[in-house]
Amino acid sequence: MKHKIILDCDPGHDDAIAILLAARHPQIDLLAITTVAGNQAVEKTTHNALKVCSLANIRTVPIAMGMARPLLRPARHAANIHGLSGMDGPHIPEPDLALSPIHAVDLLIQLLLASAGDITLVPTGPLTNIATAIKQEPAIVPKIKAISLMGGAIGVGNVTSSAEFNIWVDPEAAAIVFNCGRPITMVPLEVTHQALATPAIVARLRAAQQPVATFAADLLVFFAETYQHVFGFAAPPVHDPCAVAAVIDPTIIQAKHMPVAIETVSELTAGRTVCDLYGTSSQPPQVRVGYALAVERFWEMVISTLLNS
Ligand code: RIB
Ligand code: CA
Repeated sequence: MKHKIILDCDPGHDDAIAILLAARHPQIDLLAITTVAGNQAVEKTTHNALKVCSLANIRTVPIAMGMARPLLRPARHAANIHGLSGMDGPHIPEPDLALSPIHAVDLLIQLLLASAGDITLVPTGPLTNIATAIKQEPAIVPKIKAISLMGGAIGVGNVTSSAEFNIWVDPEAAAIVFNCGRPITMVPLEVTHQALATPAIVARLRAAQQPVATFAADLLVFFAETYQHVFGFAAPPVHDPCAVAAVIDPTIIQAKHMPVAIETVSELTAGRTVCDLYGTSSQPPQVRVGYALAVERFWEMVISTLLNS
């Protein structure tokens, strides 16, 4: 049975790998790619999504541009990690694909309302588009089968010590999504920091001598340079495909249900995913929070899928 998904992303080197995995995996029916401001301005993340799909010959998936800034806060980007283009590193030909004329929020609403309630949302950037769609048309909420999102941290963040980037950019949007009442799998830094694109992984991609796998390897080389420079990582964590992998095979992450609240008030901890590990709050355990990744199976899934592109 194929999983119908909408990938909401901010390409972004790791978002690009998530696009390739979602578009090519036999158990995924990628209904649409919606883009949002995050790693870079939404015009750039959208252009990057078009470039990835054009290069990988992904031509039947509508790509729609979304929100240019968070619900309340100014837009904040991650040029230190992803570069000025949002996907610096390899030369990527200009896309020969047309952007959908429909705004991402309207496309999300249209697809969900017309669905049988069998669409999983896979956000891998700030949650601005999803939250805006819920605010604009609350009737979509019961139509969301599930949400598998890359974001948050049980412990230390990666932008502040309290917050992970996707949640930090738009905490108000994250609060709306985390409280929407639909089944949520949160794939936090504790999981994605195990998905390290080591030189051996890059070599396996390059050894195939296939255009898409070589493109992914080139992306990861740049990603490795910035992650080493900024964080001192020996290899970059490829965050976003973990959220797609968790839809394909939920057992690829170990997870525990717990209440998760989003800090939106304190400037010191804004964007924190407050994970109630010990059940001390009176809140329902509404989120399945990942804490470990089956690393070998993850890379086997990603590499085998990219090599079959
Ligand atoms: O914190 C990592 C997340 O922020 C990833 O989704 C990356 O692409 C950036 O969006
Ligand atoms: Ca992302």
